[in-house]
Amino acid sequence: MPKDKIAVVTGASRGIGRSISLALSAAGATIVAVDMDKAATDAIVAEITAAGGKALAVIGNVTVPEDAEKMIEAAMNEYGRVDILVNNAGITRDGIFLRMKDEDWDAVLSVNLKGAFLCSRAASKVMTKQRFGRIINIASVVGQMGNAGQANYCASKAGLIGLTKSNARELAKRNITVNAVAPGFIATAMTDALPEKVKAELMAQIPLERLGTADDIANAVLFLAAENSGYITGHVLSVNGGMYM
Ligand code: NAI
Repeated sequence: MPKDKIAVVTGASRGIGRSISLALSAAGATIVAVDMDKAATDAIVAEITAAGGKALAVIGNVTVPEDAEKMIEAAMNEYGRVDILVNNAGITRDGIFLRMKDEDWDAVLSVNLKGAFLCSRAASKVMTKQRFGRIINIASVVGQMGNAGQANYCASKAGLIGLTKSNARELAKRNITVNAVAPGFIATAMTDALPEKVKAELMAQIPLERLGTADDIANAVLFLAAENSGYITGHVLSVNGGMYM
């Protein structure tokens, strides 16, 4: 378990990022919670602190190189290490491929793929010196199998899997592991609002016959972040109820 480790989590203030932050904190890690909204980021830090954990809020945009450097600097100034980086911040701008707008392509690739590149590069400089690191990228089942109406999102998540494997090879000699977690359909406000018919169609594709939870994803991250998971690198861990094997 990541006891006394310093974990930087992007997109930490809600959804899957929030669950990952709470789970890492409950396991003993100190959390550097990065997000764009100050009130929401302060709220997750307050929640962690109230539960007896340690956390620091950093307001930043993962697509801005200076912000990526800033979040690692903040962790270093406050705690002197960065052991774990979870690249979780992500967005969707869905649409039919033939009519997809350039700005929707660019926005999704920028947050989901370039953001992970910038934060990984900033964190790796520190992890290389420490000769220890765990980088965990939150990909998606649709990056493995594709999904109509999500060309930009699927390309970004498939790209993230390529980045994971390349960085795993490059950083291994410094004792830094790089892995991805690929969630299936996760119960969120968005999936709650789907019509029953759509939910039933979705469920028919999932052998375990339920949507995943943010905690299912957090558990997988916890496993990969653990000190004794150090012989796993370049892996894509599917957490999808069997939807894609
Ligand atoms: P969400 O939309 O609830 O949370 C994303 C968080 O990232 C938000 O707090 C947002 O402010 C932050 N964020 C967005 N752009 C940012 C930027 N440029 N810089 C810093 N922070 C930024 O999303 P959710 O559902 O929790 O997803 C988290 C990750 O899991 C994403 O990478 C998503 O692609 C992935 N995922 C989600 C699935 C789902 O069913 N919800 C399924 C598969 C993957």
